[in-house]
Amino acid sequence: MTYENSLDFARHLDATDPLRSFRDRFHIPQRNGRELAYLCGNSLGLQPKTARAALEQELNTWQNLGVEGWFESGDASPGGGVAYTWLNYHERCKTDLASIIGATSIEVCPMNALTVNLHLLLTSFYQPTNKKARLLTIKGDFPSDQYALETHVRSRGFNPADTIIEIAPRPETGLIELADIQNAIAEHADSLALIWMSGLNYYTGQVYDMVAIAQTARQRGILIGFDLAHAIGNIPLNLHDWGVDFATWCSYKYLNGGPGAVSGVFVHERHHDEELPRLAGWWGYREDRRFAMTPGFVPAPGADGWQVSTPNILSLSLHRASLAITAEVGLPALHLKSRLLTGFLDYLVAPFNDIQILTPRDPKQRGCQLSLLVRTDGKVLFNHLTEAGIIGDWREPDCIRLAPVPLYNSFEDVWRVGEGLRCFFG
Ligand SMILES: Cc1ncc(COP(=O)(O)O)c(C=O)c1O
Repeated sequence: MTYENSLDFARHLDATDPLRSFRDRFHIPQRNGRELAYLCGNSLGLQPKTARAALEQELNTWQNLGVEGWFESGDASPGGGVAYTWLNYHERCKTDLASIIGATSIEVCPMNALTVNLHLLLTSFYQPTNKKARLLTIKGDFPSDQYALETHVRSRGFNPADTIIEIAPRPETGLIELADIQNAIAEHADSLALIWMSGLNYYTGQVYDMVAIAQTARQRGILIGFDLAHAIGNIPLNLHDWGVDFATWCSYKYLNGGPGAVSGVFVHERHHDEELPRLAGWWGYREDRRFAMTPGFVPAPGADGWQVSTPNILSLSLHRASLAITAEVGLPALHLKSRLLTGFLDYLVAPFNDIQILTPRDPKQRGCQLSLLVRTDGKVLFNHLTEAGIIGDWREPDCIRLAPVPLYNSFEDVWRVGEGLRCFFG
């Protein structure tokens, strides 16, 4: 695509965008009667217009059925299909979730929050021995993950300082090459119990080559899991075929499930029949016998067996409504638009010498987010953009993250960033 820096050009791209109608499915925040250029879906996605009705439906069921909502359907089951109750409500999310991450339905389950799920999954998949205790990860991955790894290592009686191996970004680019990861796996293969890393780095916006990394891990017989907080709903994923062992994510970013929305897990089917250590709770018990309340934990088949507590149905209702939109468009179409949209942002930002685009310029190595390092007065620029109605987020000491989301952002939103930069730098 040959871009042009003009409002007419941006509007032309919007007019010919096959996904343009999806923007109308979301509430776009406004200030002083004008829509904001909301480029912050990497932090919190926008509210789908269907969210309120989905939530109200479950509030109505609660109002009308009380506790019976767990066993009776408050839904006039469209098409005469399965009569869903709150008891099996999570299953209503599975088809869409599975299509978004490239898995089978039994490999996925919406549950808990991301870090909670990471703890549950580490309990099952981090099985250190004296010979193989090490954990390989990315230096500077999201702090919550670092804390989870550190505390797991400690709780198993090992010292994080020599048990956690971190792959550092290259100083000249701030990024990590595939070879750096593959070399680290090869170097430490004999002592590695597990690899845990982000699939898309929250800070740099870099997408790691999960296919190649998972393949290397499997060739070496090392388990691998991914944090997909910034990848899910942003880039196409095919976790089952890639042979990834397990993963978790959140749904409040690109899945637009609302603040603190329910997370989910993926567990590859090859692990379903293994007797893995778990931190169990009654909701992970076989559903058909859960209410027998008998001692002795028997896990539900598949990813469901990692559930612990009673699910938050209100949160699941929002999740379901927003997942349906993402699944309706499908990741291939979203990704196609995403490349054009983020390519336009890249084109508009690149001429400004005071800004370094930290995110890889290669579209295959990024999703929708660009991380901009501002050489001087970054916070002043950030405040200027915010004043101009452009909502991104700020990371100390010098980074502005902007994420044009193909579901609801327009090319005009992106054009406004170029204008904001032009006004600031003159
Ligand atoms: C990459 C990544 N991992 C983990 C988390 C923590 O998620 P939660 O607070 O839902 O556990 C976040 C939160 O934004 C994140 O971006």
